[in-house]
Amino acid sequence: MLILVTGGCGFIGSEFIRWQLAANADARIVNLDKLTYAGNPENLAAIAGNSRYEFQLGDIADRSCVEGLLACNTFDGVVNFAAESHVDRSLLDSGPFVQTNVIGTQVLLDACRQAGIRRYVQVSTDEVYGSLGSTGKFTEETPLAPNSPYSASKAAADMLVRAYHHSFGFPAVITRCSNNYGPYQFPEKLLPLFITNLFADLQVPVYGAGTNVRDWIHVTDHCRGIDAALRRGKPGEVYNFGGLTEKTNLEITHLLLDLIGKPHSLIRYVADRPGHDLRYAIDCTKAKRELSWQPEVVFEQGLRDTIEWYRTHGDWVARIKSGAYRDYYQQQYGGRLNQA
Ligand code: NAD
Ligand code: TYD
Repeated sequence: MLILVTGGCGFIGSEFIRWQLAANADARIVNLDKLTYAGNPENLAAIAGNSRYEFQLGDIADRSCVEGLLACNTFDGVVNFAAESHVDRSLLDSGPFVQTNVIGTQVLLDACRQAGIRRYVQVSTDEVYGSLGSTGKFTEETPLAPNSPYSASKAAADMLVRAYHHSFGFPAVITRCSNNYGPYQFPEKLLPLFITNLFADLQVPVYGAGTNVRDWIHVTDHCRGIDAALRRGKPGEVYNFGGLTEKTNLEITHLLLDLIGKPHSLIRYVADRPGHDLRYAIDCTKAKRELSWQPEVVFEQGLRDTIEWYRTHGDWVARIKSGAYRDYYQQQYGGRLNQA
């Protein structure tokens, strides 16, 4: 099976490629990635020499690039991971989010439709459903009500995918997943930011009161779900994936402090994120029933392994933190968090 993966140098896309090549001997992959600040070829260093893997530098919003790639290869499936993915950045500047997440998806859909692609997976997020109160879960029927520029751009892409299936019979499925954790996550998101700060005895910035709830899923479980959707998903359908592990941000923070062995005085309460969604929780009954999928990684063990990965990959973190990331970090927290 020849798969076009977009955004494969990011956190989840790189895990999907590593996992796919290891799990399926018939899998061959072309990875189209623009290498934004979040795209890191180092994430795929382990498979760089694999004859079943090929890298292509390019932008999903670049029509000639995408059409050229599809003309030169006969792909059995396309999985679109490419996106601007960080809510906080979307609050600073939503332009790149609309450009890649909306325009990029539209260009990719057009090119895939023209090339007669038979399986397309749009990797989306539970954030398109908006925020829950203290009870209930998102099902695939929950109306979309995105609250951040990031989730609005992902919802717009989902609507395009839905419309291409409805109007043209384009064989697309949409997956919507909760918060991922695991190795190779860019250290701007909650878990890798807090883990790497704590290793350096830096404070960890908890937004607001830390009472917001997220449903955490290990990235490998998410990738198994995407693979199931690619191979067994029904065109036009949406599949939710979640980790069945709801935690407040403060619970996560306390767990990290205790596992890493740092004092709770390193918690720094900072101004809340504007429009901060209170709670996400996923009902993944449909994926269990129709894709025979369910999350397998036990959160506490997955978290321990993730901490250990960051402990043993300090050089990976250091290279990122001394690069473009530094400017963003300065803009967000410069002078407001203690230094080691
Ligand atoms: P990431 O930010 O780590 O990686 C994004 C990748 O896309 C990078 O390699 C980047 O270079 C590439 N990219 C960005 N713009 C591009 C463009 N125009 N053309 C080609 N490549 C481009 O993101 P991630 O956390 O791995 O998320 C991957 C996908 O999963 C995204 O679509 C995201 O919305 C979705 N998702 C993420 C989570 C999560 O918890 N991280 C949860 C649910 C869904
Ligand atoms: P994040 O990892 O950015 O994912 P998302 O916004 O897509 O859920 O944030 C997870 C939660 O952690 C979210 O409620 C915001 C909160 N958060 C903090 O409290 N401090 C931080 O420094 C970050 C990055 C996030």
